[in-house]
Amino acid sequence: MLKKAQKEIDFHIGKERNVEETDINNLGYLQAIVKEALKLYPPLPLGLPHVAIEDCTVGGLRIPSRHTCFIEFMETTSGSICLVIYPLEFQPERFLTSHAVVNVRGQHVELLPFGVGKRSCPRTSFSLNIIHLALGRLVHGFEMTAPSEMPVDMTSHSVELP
Ligand code: HEM
Repeated sequence: MLKKAQKEIDFHIGKERNVEETDINNLGYLQAIVKEALKLYPPLPLGLPHVAIEDCTVGGLRIPSRHTCFIEFMETTSGSICLVIYPLEFQPERFLTSHAVVNVRGQHVELLPFGVGKRSCPRTSFSLNIIHLALGRLVHGFEMTAPSEMPVDMTSHSVELP
């Protein structure tokens, strides 16, 4: 996957200059890697706490006034197992084929790393720009391998899945 990402960047940018923000649109495989990373390792798997200002019902659940709720975005993702095949495997290719229409902007239940609706992350575009630029420059500028060619430990240490 790393080689594939490097090849894509070399093809579109070459070796004479750095990756710039304006290149990101052409780097579909890099974007797919970022989506896959945000799917498997969402920085805020529980979103932020939301407090009900009055009694309400959300998706059939009664939430009393002044109670705090968290939405388990990670659970939503892994729970949509019928929508995403092998949801816990790192497979960026899915976002170029079977899930090419899926974006991270709260429109697809398979992928909600920035939340959804009025209280979703207001800095989604900014964050995506920075992530793509930083990852693109790393992949472009450095040859990276695991020590002694060991397989990379992909376990998330912040989220334990059932
Ligand atoms: C990869 C980077 C980021 C991810 C994955 C992320 C994800 C999220 C998520 C899941 C929420 C909660 C949505 C909810 O509970 O409904 C949120 C809220 C928020 N985020 Fe981000 N965020 C990122 C970066 C940033 C950055 C860089 C900023 C500011 C510079 C930011 C500012 C905020 C703010 C202010 C809220 C609260 C919005 C509200 O309650 O109305 N986020 N973010």
